[in-house]
Amino acid sequence: MDKLKIVGGIPLRGQIHISGAKNAALPLMAASLLASDEVILQNVPHLADITTMANLLMHCGLEINMPVAKTESFGHTLSLKPSGKVETDAPYDLVRKMRASVLVLGPLVAKYRRAKVSMPGGCAIGTRPIDLHLKGLEKLGATVTLEGGDVYVDAPLGLQGAEITFPFITVTGTENIMMAATLARGETKIINAAKEPEVVDLAKFLKAMGAKITGEGSDIITIQGVDQLGGCCHRIIPDRIETGTYLAAIGITNGDVELIGADLDMLSVVKGELIEAGLSFDQTKEGVRVRRTDPQKSLKNLTLKTDPYPGFPTDLQAQLMAMMTLAEGISTITETIFENRFMHVAELLRMGANIHIHGSSAVVTGVERLKGAPVMATDLRASASLVISALAAEGESIIGRIYHLDRGYEMIEAKLRRCGASIERIA
Ligand code: EPU
Repeated sequence: MDKLKIVGGIPLRGQIHISGAKNAALPLMAASLLASDEVILQNVPHLADITTMANLLMHCGLEINMPVAKTESFGHTLSLKPSGKVETDAPYDLVRKMRASVLVLGPLVAKYRRAKVSMPGGCAIGTRPIDLHLKGLEKLGATVTLEGGDVYVDAPLGLQGAEITFPFITVTGTENIMMAATLARGETKIINAAKEPEVVDLAKFLKAMGAKITGEGSDIITIQGVDQLGGCCHRIIPDRIETGTYLAAIGITNGDVELIGADLDMLSVVKGELIEAGLSFDQTKEGVRVRRTDPQKSLKNLTLKTDPYPGFPTDLQAQLMAMMTLAEGISTITETIFENRFMHVAELLRMGANIHIHGSSAVVTGVERLKGAPVMATDLRASASLVISALAAEGESIIGRIYHLDRGYEMIEAKLRRCGASIERIA
């Protein structure tokens, strides 16, 4: 299994190209099942999760043209079109690899009136049930049964529009119901909908295919069902979580980097916090230049609480915690979305961080320096936090189980190495 060797202490300097958003690309690819013609997706990142989704969609009957050879990052173009063959199940092997496989539920039931998806089970950050997806589909008239670890969703007469109120915000739940409702009869209202930019990107994509959707980006999304969706061409938004990850890496290493293609409008809360911590941002022609406001001064402590968009994203909690390990004073980071998203803490302690967990909060007391160590990645964003700490730590760190990183960060070593980092993948 591959590992990453990082020798820390080098400030990042140069340019980093921001890739297309994984969490936008995955639902958009799944939504392509709804189209009766060819769909073209641009700026698709080259990631393990994208390959898993492509395999699942090919299993379901899409013909996908996906370039395999690749020397540099910066966006593939995928063509997805119906092959004529149809399978309406998502097998356990693929769902186990990637929870986002459940995103095929809505499109399959809407278009083919049935779907069978393996229950995803828990994962490293929490139990992550899909009950809200299933209740939403039931509201649209589907029957849901669980047998042998598989969920069967059937709607032999097609789906019927309805009002669905989520008791709390779910991103992929909102996406699944929005996709299902595009081909349902009549009107669907999703109340307490997720407002994440990836949900808005999905709505834009569905509208380009001919769907009738209003209110995306607000609490209430309204969908008028149509008979059929056609093909379209769409460019995926930049990855705000990848962007935030590099912001933390630049901050902790006292670097100076231009993030090409970054869109900080999607990160306004994070940007505000980072300015408070001591980073400065200058808009450039192609993106944004990021560095410390005063390179002689340490970073300042922060008080953060994760929340659904536009709040502070849970997907950046681990990375900002890594950055705070070297900030002055005491930072408090509270996780409100997932019940078990502090797995990185034990690994950061191995590098000399001072962190105590109290329930859903982590109290981080800044230390003078981190020391390189062998550490283990536990999930995608936890892995990113270990890379960030290792880039600033004295000496060598070896990060194990980096297949997690490959699920969500395109060409991470190449991008960091170009900015001067000492980072290499070892077998
Ligand atoms: N939840 C339920 N029942 C449901 C659905 C969700 O109890 O039916 C709970 C979850 O267990 C969690 C909370 O609701 O406690 C919010 O989960 P949500 O459904 O919003 O998460 P998700 O849609 O499964 C997406 C991203 C995650 C990101 C979260 C939160 C994708 C493919 N995944 O997951 O991304 O952390 O929203 O923003 O979009 C990542 O990229 O590393 C990642 C985990």
